[in-house]
Parts: sequence; C-alpha cells; structure tokens
Amino acid sequence: MDRKIILSGIQPSGNLCLGNYIGALKNWESLQDEYDSIFLVVDMHALTSTQSPSNLRNRCLSFVAQYVACGIDPEKSIIAIQSHIHEHAELMWVLNSICYIGELNRMTQFKDKSKNQKNKNVGLFTYPVLMASDILLYQADLVPVGADQKQHLELSRNLAVRFNNKYSETFKVPEPFIPKVGSRIMSLQDPLKKMSKSDENLNNIISLLDTDNDIRKKISRAVTDSGSEIKYLKEKPGLSNLIDIYASLTKESIKSIENNYQGKMYSVLKKDLIEIIINNLSPIRSEYNKIIKDKTYLNDLLKKGSDNASYRARKTLSKVYRKVGFVKK
Ligand code: TRP
Repeated sequence: MDRKIILSGIQPSGNLCLGNYIGALKNWESLQDEYDSIFLVVDMHALTSTQSPSNLRNRCLSFVAQYVACGIDPEKSIIAIQSHIHEHAELMWVLNSICYIGELNRMTQFKDKSKNQKNKNVGLFTYPVLMASDILLYQADLVPVGADQKQHLELSRNLAVRFNNKYSETFKVPEPFIPKVGSRIMSLQDPLKKMSKSDENLNNIISLLDTDNDIRKKISRAVTDSGSEIKYLKEKPGLSNLIDIYASLTKESIKSIENNYQGKMYSVLKKDLIEIIINNLSPIRSEYNKIIKDKTYLNDLLKKGSDNASYRARKTLSKVYRKVGFVKK
C-alpha cells in the first residue's frame, strides 16, 4: 500500500528556535521514515509581514540548511521552497473563489495579527487559503502542526470538502497531527506566551544556532518562581516549561523528572537542562555550518525538491483546472 502523505511548513521569519525544534523539526525527522513526507519553507506566507528582500532570501536558504541539519533527509523527504512551485499561488486563486469572507474573518490568528501589525495587507487575511493550497495541492493525509494552527487546518478541510461536493471528488481531506508533548514550548522570560521565532527579545528564545554560551546564559536567566519545589504545576509556568523542554529532549516522563529532582534546587535542574540542550543543539549547529557553505549541495537539493514537488502539484492542479471548467491549453 502507498504510504500516507504528510506535509508541513515553517514561515521563514525570525530565527528557528527550540520551540520549532521540539514542536516540529524533531518530530518531522522521525516521521519521515514512516510517511511520504513533504517539508516546505513557506516564503510566500512570509510576505504577509514586512521583510527585507535580502534577509528573506538568506533566511530561506538558512532554514533549508537547518532542516537538513536537524536530520530531515533530502533522500527520504521532499524539501522545497514554496515559491519555487507556482501551483501554490494558482490553486490558491481557485480556493479563494470558494472561501467565504466570513470564514476568514473568524480566524483568530488573523484577528490577533491585524490588531498588532501595522501593515494590514490582504495577504494577512487570505493567508489561511494559501495554507490550504499548500496542503491540498499534495493530497496530504496528515499535517503536523502546533495547536495554534488547528483552526487553519479546519478551514483546509472545509475547503476540500466544499470543492469535492461542488465539482466531484478531487482533494484528500487532511487531518491535523498535533503532538501531545512539546507542542507548546513557552517563552523563557514570559512563560505564559509561546516561544516564538519572531520574538524580538532574543532572551525569550533559544535559537537553533545559539552558541553554547548563549544557551547557558538564557537558561540560567529563565524566569521561574519564588518557590523551591521542583513540581510541574500550572502555578509554576516557568519551571513547568523548563521541565517540558527537559522531558521532550530526553523522552523522560515528567513524573520521573519530578522524582529525580525532589529536594534539589532549581539551579540544579537548570544546570542539567543546559547540558541537555547543548548536547542536542551543538551537533545541529556544526552540521548547519557545513551545509550552509556548500551552495552546490543546497542548490541541487532544492532543485530535486522542487522538481518532485512540482510533478505532484501539476497533477492536482490540472485536475482542478479541468473540473472548474478552464479550457485545456
Ligand atoms: N501557517 C503555518 C504556521 O504559521 C505555516 C504553514 C504554511 C503551514 N503552510 C503550511 C503548516 C502548510 C503546515 C502546512 O505555523
């Protein structure tokens, strides 16, 4: 039987961080053996916030190199940059015409972003339709995403069903695939807020490319509470976040971490956590430093990824164009 298809993507804005690693990249790496996998750098989505062109270009390549350094293997998975496959924009147009303004108005991420962002462009509003296009174009079965993307995925499912009902069976209806542990790594200084790669305060995040020293400093200074008992509790969001990171990186259960640190000081836990993070990230950083220098390798990998992705995208799009009644070229 054919393997199920999984697809996911990250927007090239900010710096890939420990939250992305634990919540996404680390899982992708283990999923790629079991699933037919497609991992995108969604640069078209990044245009919805203000970008400097040269930073965007460099960041896209850097993200691709970081995917590979995290163990996403271009021999096993398709790695591609969204804008390299023009079908994303083309399918989006068709989906735009079956998506209602009311549906997009209800998207909580749009409401939040349009409240906070000065640059209120239409792209910000139709962002979820582009995301649906990413997913439906490849007939993805499963979409690994963070809990904050659930509503967008629900829209993708609705659009797939709506199109299938209006024209005839065309799209697979995708399922979200939300990891239970580690899908919400929080900010180090404000543990009620998600650790976000776009956070301007770099003390809030551990970037995948932070030096060992940066990691030491940031974890040592991470906000905890005035208590002294190492317990995973709602009332101790800072400490619980550190325990979450610990548990995700070691696969140890939260219970056993609590037991091992019974009667110990927060600083002991922090010291061990620093070593755990460094052991995870420093090999990734050195792999990254090799890959990013090898432009031929990166270009070849991207060519292969976009060739494979385009082949699949063309198949879906030509079906869609035929079904909606466009004249064959
Ligand atoms: N909107 C997603 C996020 O911010 C990124 C994304 C774009 C995505 N297209 C996608 C994720 C397709 C999964 C599948 O996290």
